[in-house]
Amino acid sequence: MPRIALIPGDGIGVEVVREARRLLEALNDSESINFELVEWDLGADRYLRDGTTITDDEFRSLSDDYDAVLLGALGDPRVPGNEHAKDILLGMRFKLDLYVNFRPCVLLAPELCPLRDVPGSLRLETFRENTEGAYTGMGGSFKTGTPDEVAIEEDVNTRKGVERIIRAAFEFAHTRGRERVTLVDKSNVQRHVGGLYRRVFAEVGEGYPDIAQDAMYVDAMAMDLVRRPERYQVIVTSNLFGDIISDLAAEITGGLGLAPSANMNPGRQALFEPVHGSAPDIAGQNKANPIGAIRCVGLMLDYFGHAEIGERVEAAVAASVREGRTTPDLGGDLSTEDVGQWISAHIAKGTPAST
Ligand SMILES: NC(=O)c1ccc[n+]([C@@H]2O[C@H](COP(=O)([O-])OP(=O)(O)OC[C@H]3O[C@@H](n4cnc5c(N)ncnc54)[C@H](O)[C@@H]3O)[C@@H](O)[C@H]2O)c1
Repeated sequence: MPRIALIPGDGIGVEVVREARRLLEALNDSESINFELVEWDLGADRYLRDGTTITDDEFRSLSDDYDAVLLGALGDPRVPGNEHAKDILLGMRFKLDLYVNFRPCVLLAPELCPLRDVPGSLRLETFRENTEGAYTGMGGSFKTGTPDEVAIEEDVNTRKGVERIIRAAFEFAHTRGRERVTLVDKSNVQRHVGGLYRRVFAEVGEGYPDIAQDAMYVDAMAMDLVRRPERYQVIVTSNLFGDIISDLAAEITGGLGLAPSANMNPGRQALFEPVHGSAPDIAGQNKANPIGAIRCVGLMLDYFGHAEIGERVEAAVAASVREGRTTPDLGGDLSTEDVGQWISAHIAKGTPAST
């Protein structure tokens, strides 16, 4: 039985994870899955209460005693430096070696796309390297606060790290019938890092002759994603570029409230989280869109081998958008709870995945 740690975290994280939990409990009752759900008290409240962000024992327990984590969001205005969020979120990504950050963005209805020439359908699936690059924190400052200040931020990329994320992207494309994988880099300027990415992309790509392969500079990609997003399918890139490009992809397909993500070390551990943050501006008002978190449940089901149930979650989400059963960010007038209940009930009715 998969054991899942639920970490609601801060702000709207608490509200959207409540709806994800509602769905998981309903599926536990009605389907042949049996997830054990354990709620964890991590976030700003605990940090302000006792100064703890997350302990080494807790990291060890997440790694050894759990099969996956579902996180809401972390970030609270009462903790201006958000040190708890860095410790918990980056800590899990690095310490659990969750090297794949998978961000699937699907356009559920044409009216959600902010572009003038709306593509008929759109599925942009980003594989962002998640454990190195510009996020290692290596670097330093010298003569800080003076006119002679120097700041250095290292971009650390290993052959192993580059190869495993590129391989994950190709393997996904191969097993899911995707036709194109695009590498995004800045190899005209970052010749060392870009050169490594390009070489490994070409080498790994040789094993997938049926998949179209191309490479784009990140600036050209930003333009092209707005101009003709339908050209792209699976995108693989470094930590920093993936952070930016996947937010662009999320916005093109309807906004942050809809986008899920999976941080994975496949077969070992996975952390699922909606792409959005804790949204302090709307926290506690029962109007946050729970769809990003609910789609995380779909990704989790897929990860544990229940692809068909995962597709039904996606279909129910699409139906809620189509029928206007949405929160105010998508133009609807339902609450977070209403949307969560509607989607859970829709799935319980046994709606097939193709609806
Ligand atoms: N993974 C994470 O936990 C994560 C990610 C991003 C930001 N953060 C943190 O969250 C806090 C707020 O950051 P931010 O304001 O830059 O980003 P945010 O994603 O929290 O909010 C950006 C805007 O989008 C809206 N929004 C976000 N999610 C929504 C949803 N589900 N439904 C409806 N509207 C939604 C918000 O109301 C806000 O106007 C900060 O402390 C930041 O560090 C955490």
